[in-house]
Amino acid sequence: MTRVQRVLVTGSRGKVGRHVVAALVAAGFEVRGTDIGRPVYDADDSNAVPYVQADLTDAGAAFAVVRDVDAVVHTAGIPEPTKNVAHEVFATNTQSTMNVIEAMEARSIRRLINMSSDSVSGMTWAHRPMVGAFCPIDETHPDRAHDAYGLSKRVTEMLCDAFVARTDASAVSIRPTWVLTPDTYAANLRPFFDDPDLPSAVFWAYIDVRDLADLVVACLRTQTPGHEVVYAAAADNIAGRDLLASVARLHPEVELRPVPRVDASGIDSSKATRLFGWAPSRSWRDHLDERGEPRAAERDQN
Ligand SMILES: NC(=O)c1ccc[n+]([C@@H]2O[C@H](COP(=O)([O-])OP(=O)(O)OC[C@H]3O[C@@H](n4cnc5c(N)ncnc54)[C@H](O)[C@@H]3O)[C@@H](O)[C@H]2O)c1
Repeated sequence: MTRVQRVLVTGSRGKVGRHVVAALVAAGFEVRGTDIGRPVYDADDSNAVPYVQADLTDAGAAFAVVRDVDAVVHTAGIPEPTKNVAHEVFATNTQSTMNVIEAMEARSIRRLINMSSDSVSGMTWAHRPMVGAFCPIDETHPDRAHDAYGLSKRVTEMLCDAFVARTDASAVSIRPTWVLTPDTYAANLRPFFDDPDLPSAVFWAYIDVRDLADLVVACLRTQTPGHEVVYAAAADNIAGRDLLASVARLHPEVELRPVPRVDASGIDSSKATRLFGWAPSRSWRDHLDERGEPRAAERDQN
């Protein structure tokens, strides 16, 4: 297998994409970015790596930008189903992935890191109340997505299966849970501190965007054959609750499985650790105190 040096990041103007670009640059990769977002023509931070605007649902645009690299990190897409109409969510996520893969195949680009989602499991955007079959959730959990977004992500994983079946390429689909950035911890997590029994579709799992970006780097440094699917979550859960006790109280029907720590995540990402030597190192505790209040350093920044 060729060593990955040149990487194209799709969705490079997005929340995940921006951090992936930064992590790859810091790790010494030669990085290019593409997104549907408007280019900036002046010299500024958004032009830290070469950037070309492209709508990846357009095959011509995808074929024009997916070239001259060893790997693609595909983060472009619509990241949830509530702020766009369903057919647009489904079409954008599936068609863009299809086009990226077709272009990779045509150019013999052999490593794809596909940003899938924990929503493939079905709970996150369930139209009817649905809870995991067991806790913590891992890759053996059934895929029960029935909303436009979760289904679209499931299709992207099927496209990756087909890609590696018909070519010499390999792929990793990462299923991040709720992605948080340093500036969003306080507001996003406030309701969970205000109401310790506030339910969470994926048992209070979250991941820091910088840990997710580090996992992408690890997936490019460590080659794996075929198509692997891995969940990605922080080691702990939101608000640091006793995970199994909370699940037992709120969802007595859920099968409880062993966890490595009392405040463990509701999503087990140990497969990513086994395959790629990656482990999450960030926590909400870096930004908030035990009552969910921003730590002094954070308050000074804001
Ligand atoms: N944010 C989360 O909590 C989360 C959780 C799990 C998975 N994901 C996945 O991670 C990926 C990135 O999510 P994000 O949070 O950074 O979202 P985001 O909206 O911040 O970034 C997505 C980027 O994709 C671009 N894009 C959208 N349609 C495009 C198109 N047709 N052509 C080219 N670019 C297009 C957008 O302009 C945007 O910059 C998505 O695939 C999302 O499904 C996100």
